[in-house]
Amino acid sequence: MNRQIILKSRPTGMPAVTNFELAETHMPSPEEGELLVKSLYISVDPYMRSRMSDAKSYVPSFEVGKPMDGGVVAEVIESNHPDFVVGDAVLGHLQWKVIQTINAQHVTKLDKAVQLSYYLGILGMPGLTAYFGMNEIGKPVAGETVVVSGAAGAVGMVVCQIAKLKGCRVVGIAGSDDKTAYLKDVLKVDEVINYRTEKDMKAAIERTCPDGVDVYYDNVGGAISDAVFSNINKFARIILCGQISLYNSTEVPVGPRPQPLMVKKSALMQGFIVSNYSARFGEGIHQLAQWLGDGKLAYQETIVDGFEKLPETFIGLFHGKNTGKFLVKM
Ligand SMILES: NC(=O)c1ccc[n+]([C@@H]2O[C@H](COP(=O)([O-])OP(=O)(O)OC[C@H]3O[C@@H](n4cnc5c(N)ncnc54)[C@H](OP(=O)(O)O)[C@@H]3O)[C@@H](O)[C@H]2O)c1
Repeated sequence: MNRQIILKSRPTGMPAVTNFELAETHMPSPEEGELLVKSLYISVDPYMRSRMSDAKSYVPSFEVGKPMDGGVVAEVIESNHPDFVVGDAVLGHLQWKVIQTINAQHVTKLDKAVQLSYYLGILGMPGLTAYFGMNEIGKPVAGETVVVSGAAGAVGMVVCQIAKLKGCRVVGIAGSDDKTAYLKDVLKVDEVINYRTEKDMKAAIERTCPDGVDVYYDNVGGAISDAVFSNINKFARIILCGQISLYNSTEVPVGPRPQPLMVKKSALMQGFIVSNYSARFGEGIHQLAQWLGDGKLAYQETIVDGFEKLPETFIGLFHGKNTGKFLVKM
C-alpha cells in the first residue's frame, strides 16, 4: 500500500501531531501525460500553519480529511510523458504522499549534479525569498547595519550572507547558542543575539547596533521586532517577510504602534510574498547558484528521516528545532 498524511483537524494555537493522520491510500497509475513519482525530500514551511486554519489567505486552506501538500523533490518511477524518463528528479508542489501521479507540466526537471534537497532551500523558495526581499525592498548599501531575525533559518541564513556580500554590518538574531555560534563562526555575521537568553532585547539591539539599524529583515515579528524598531535610522527599510512568533496566536496581538516612529524616521515598512517575483525566479536562482558555486554562500539543512515524521517535523519549526532548511527525507 501507499501512504499519505492528511489534515485530521484544524489546530487552535500550537499544532499537535493529533491534527494529522498517517493513512494508507491506493497505489495510483499514471495516465497519458502524467508521471508516477516517489517523494525523496518533503519540505515543511511556516506558511503551512496558516493553511491549516480556514481563514482566508493568499494560498487556499488545506482541507480537513485531505492530504497536506507543499514543496517536494521526487523521483520519476514511471513516465507517460516523452520529456521524462525513469530516474529523473523533479520539483513540484505535491501532496504529502509516498507515491503519487502528477501532470508532467506541473513539475520541473532537476539537475541531479546539484544536491537535490537544495531545490527546496537555498536554490528554491526560501533562497528566492531572501534574495528578492533583501534586494528589492531592503536595498542594502555597503556600510549599513542590517538586522535579521530568524537569522539561522532557511531564509534568514541566506539573508545574512547576501547582506555580507553587499558589504553590510550584519546582526543576526536566533534562539540558541548553537545557532548564534553558526552565524558567527561559519556565516561571519558581525554580531549575534540569542533572544531566548537575552534579558533586554531593546538594550541588546542598542549594544549591537551602535550606529542604529538601516535595514531590518523581519522573519519573526512580535517582541523581537518591537525592540529592533526602537533603534531604526532615518530612511530605514523594514522587510516584512514573516511573523512566525504570531502564527499560533489565538488573539489579535497588541504591541506598540510603530506608525509615529515610521513618520519620524521616514522609514519604509513593506510586506511581500515571494511569488510577487515569480517572473524573475530564473534570475534569482542563477545568482544564488553562482554564489553557491563560487563558495560565497554556505548553507545548512536539518534533515529528518522518515515519511511518518512529517507532522512532528513541521511542528518543530515553531520550537526552533531546525538550523537552516527543515526537511523530511524518505
Ligand atoms: N513572504 C514570503 O514569501 C515568505 C516565504 C518564505 C518564508 N517566509 C517567512 O519567513 C520566516 C522564516 O521562514 P523559514 O522557512 O526560513 O523558516 P525557518 O526560519 O527555517 O524556521 C522557523 C524558525 O523560526 C524561529 N521561531 C519559531 N518560533 C519563534 C518565535 N516564537 N519567536 C522567534 N522565532 C521563532 C525558530 O528559530 P529560533 O530557534 O531562532 O527561534 C525556527 O527555527 C517565516 O516567518 C515564514 O513564514 C515568508
